[in-house]
Amino acid sequence: MTDRYAVIGNPIAHSKSPVIHAAFALQTGQDLTYERILGATDGFRQTVDAFRAEGGLGMNVTLPFKIEAYAYAGEMSERAAAAGAVNTLKFEAGQVFGDNTDGAGLVRDLETNLGVRLRGKRVLIAGAGGAAQGAIVPLLARGPAELVIANRTLEKAQTLAARFTDRGPIRAARFEDLAKLRFDLIINATAASIDGDLPELPRGVYEDCALAYEMMYGRGETPFMRSALAEGAGRVADGLGMLVEQAAEAFQLWRGVRPETEPVLDLLRHQT
Ligand code: ATR
Repeated sequence: MTDRYAVIGNPIAHSKSPVIHAAFALQTGQDLTYERILGATDGFRQTVDAFRAEGGLGMNVTLPFKIEAYAYAGEMSERAAAAGAVNTLKFEAGQVFGDNTDGAGLVRDLETNLGVRLRGKRVLIAGAGGAAQGAIVPLLARGPAELVIANRTLEKAQTLAARFTDRGPIRAARFEDLAKLRFDLIINATAASIDGDLPELPRGVYEDCALAYEMMYGRGETPFMRSALAEGAGRVADGLGMLVEQAAEAFQLWRGVRPETEPVLDLLRHQT
């Protein structure tokens, strides 16, 4: 029987994960299937239970279920525990292991694909939701000079900064506090682009910014990317590379082999 994997989310129809994992399987000679599963918003646990009962070996978990997946996992990696969210589940001998490969995927995309050296850099994350939370520990582990978490609602940024203060130089700010600050890397981890909107960062904040990174993908050039370029950012990137890199980490956890990401990223870029 072919080994079964899936991605669960809601919505899920546009997920690129099946294409990515099919390409990884082909490249590494692994015999597996990978499907999309639409989870009912109140039915995550039942859907995952059913997939396991049918012999499924692992799942990727996307919005809005990453916190529920964290609660579902029996054991988990240190990085999943730190993120407070799980995007990868592995089922083995009745056990459920949870991991979070999002942050590692982001760091790998930045460093390996985009050639950004994070050590000593001034880094800004806009947003303090789940996407930001998963990125903090892996970013701090690369030794930036500072990591500022800016959010429309200051309290959420403060809570995150307080939670990770023992991991490195992190602090919270309002968008308007950033007017006199400069950053080498600015990451948009807000959900603003979903609505065709952008975080209201002050003018000037992009002046020294070599790269403005949009965590979202598949939306072309977002208002954040446009405004970053117009206001002085050296270049922009979307989160497609992060998507492929987090998938590679999950694939490695499941199959014990690390696929090459570059050809798969090329394939996706030519499809979109
Ligand atoms: P996710 O898990 O994708 O991060 P989330 O937990 O709902 O989603 O968090 C959404 C983030 O996007 C929050 O930081 C939110 O800011 P608030 O905490 O102030 O709500 C941010 N966000 C959403 N729309 C935004 C907008 N138009 N401008 C700025 N920030 C926005």
